[in-house]
Amino acid sequence: MKIRKAELKDKEQIIGLVKRFYSRSSPKTVEAWNKVYEKIIKLTFIAETNKKIIGFIACSTKQNSIYIDDLYVLKKYRGKGVATSLIRFINSIRKKLKKKYIIGNVRKKDRPAIKFYENIGFKIYETKDKKLRIKK
Ligand SMILES: CC(C)(COP(=O)(O)OP(=O)(O)OC[C@H]1O[C@@H](n2cnc3c(N)ncnc32)[C@H](O)[C@@H]1OP(=O)(O)O)[C@@H](O)C(=O)NCCC(=O)NCCS
Repeated sequence: MKIRKAELKDKEQIIGLVKRFYSRSSPKTVEAWNKVYEKIIKLTFIAETNKKIIGFIACSTKQNSIYIDDLYVLKKYRGKGVATSLIRFINSIRKKLKKKYIIGNVRKKDRPAIKFYENIGFKIYETKDKKLRIKK
C-alpha cells in the first residue's frame, strides 16, 4: 500500500468513494467534491494498492490545526491499518506546516469512528449538538 497526494487524474476514483460514503447521508457533499475538487485535493491524501484507491483523508488548515474534513476506507480494506497510516501521514504534514493539532468532528452515534480515533490517541475535547470534537 502506498500513501500519496491526491491528483487531478484521481477525480473519478475519489468521487466514487465519496459517493459510497455520502450519497444517502449528504448528497450536497458529493456535489461539493464535484464542483471544487481541485481546491479540496490540495490537502487530500490517498491510500492505493495496485493503482486502486482504497481510502482517502481530506483535510484543511484552521489556525493552529489541521482539520480532518473526511476520512474513508473501503469496507473490504478496513481493520488493516489503512486509516491509521493516513493519519500518520497527516501527522507528518502537520509537522511540516508547523501546526499544533490534528482536529476533527465525529457524530456521537458513530461508535466505530469514535473507537477508531480513541484507539490512535485522539481525545474528545468538546461536544456540540450531535457531534464530538476530537483532537490529537
Ligand atoms: C473509521 C475508518 C476510517 C477506520 O478505518 P480502518 O482502516 O479500518 O482503521 P484501522 O484499521 O487503521 O484501525 C485502527 C484501530 O481503530 C480501531 N477500529 C477501527 N475500526 C473499528 C471499528 N469498526 N470498531 C471498533 N474499533 C475500530 C481498531 O482498534 C483498530 O486497531 P486494531 O487494528 O489494532 O484493532 C473506517 O471504518 C471507515 O472508513 N468508516 C466509514 C467512514 C467513517 O466513519 N469515517 C470517519 C468518520 S469522520
